[in-house]
Amino acid sequence: SQYKVAMIGSNMMDLITYYDDSFPKVGETIFGKDFEIGFGGKGANQAVAIAKLGGNPFVVTAVGNDLFGPLVKENFKNQGIDTTWIKTVDGKTSGVAPIFVDKNGYNSIFIIPGANSYLEPEDIFQIKSVLTEMSFFLLQLEIKLDTVYAVLDLAHELGKKVILNPAPARNLDWKYLEGIYLFAPNETELHTLTGVNTSSRDDILKGAHLLLEKGVQNVLVTLGEKGSLLVNNTINRSFPAYPVKSIDTTGAGDAFIGALVHFLCQGKGLEESIDKASGYAALSTTQRGTQKSFTDRETFEHWFSQQPKEKDL
Ligand code: RIB
Ligand code: NA
Repeated sequence: SQYKVAMIGSNMMDLITYYDDSFPKVGETIFGKDFEIGFGGKGANQAVAIAKLGGNPFVVTAVGNDLFGPLVKENFKNQGIDTTWIKTVDGKTSGVAPIFVDKNGYNSIFIIPGANSYLEPEDIFQIKSVLTEMSFFLLQLEIKLDTVYAVLDLAHELGKKVILNPAPARNLDWKYLEGIYLFAPNETELHTLTGVNTSSRDDILKGAHLLLEKGVQNVLVTLGEKGSLLVNNTINRSFPAYPVKSIDTTGAGDAFIGALVHFLCQGKGLEESIDKASGYAALSTTQRGTQKSFTDRETFEHWFSQQPKEKDL
């Protein structure tokens, strides 16, 4: 097949407000610093990261029949992504994400999924024969959980490798975790899923092991500027983040997951893929915005080749 990975997930229009010192209280109106509209949504972001790195993701997502729907489709086209499997849902808005970025580049995000919540299990069953051709299924949690579960069941039946980024934090029915190749939560998501408090490495390991017991093959906990921690039944290994001057971390998690999946699709090993993806995510935080801060393959490879490697330090 021309496709190695199917991304079945969300898209959003990101409505990004940058502010300096304080956030308005209830009943208060204050001046913000800057505003930008961008293409986002965790699913779309991860697919676009793959495309920017030269991959060809198969994208299944839903937009509303509104102002944003056609723009979202056009954006996918501009990234070289086929829009055939993008569903348009009548009477629903496209997904939107009002995002607030503080002066240190940290963000707070609302998501209003709209049409994303109307991507149905039946939509997945209808394309089963196409999905059969691919090696990896990539999922997040911004679409309805029944649809996520339908994809997990299908992956199980067809023996596909699933990369599940359980974002944003939601509770999952643990019976679906059996067999997942890579489960990649951040600390908040790990806490929501397992109840462990994530303030120490031991606690994080405890949470990761709960997931391994449910049949997940690899757990990768992302820790922001502290890098990430890979845990499976034989190893646990920390991956440092690449030091950069961050100005906007929005979408960095998606840059990381998308790049990681791209390198896996290229046949690289899991650990090498994680290291390279850490670089791609770090580089994205040096520019504003979500997808538009994801660099192309040439820019990334050039930057990455100049980074000091752990062994040289
Ligand atoms: O992970 C970042 C993304 O989360 C943003 O693009 C926003 O759309 C929300 O889905
Ligand atoms: Na960014």
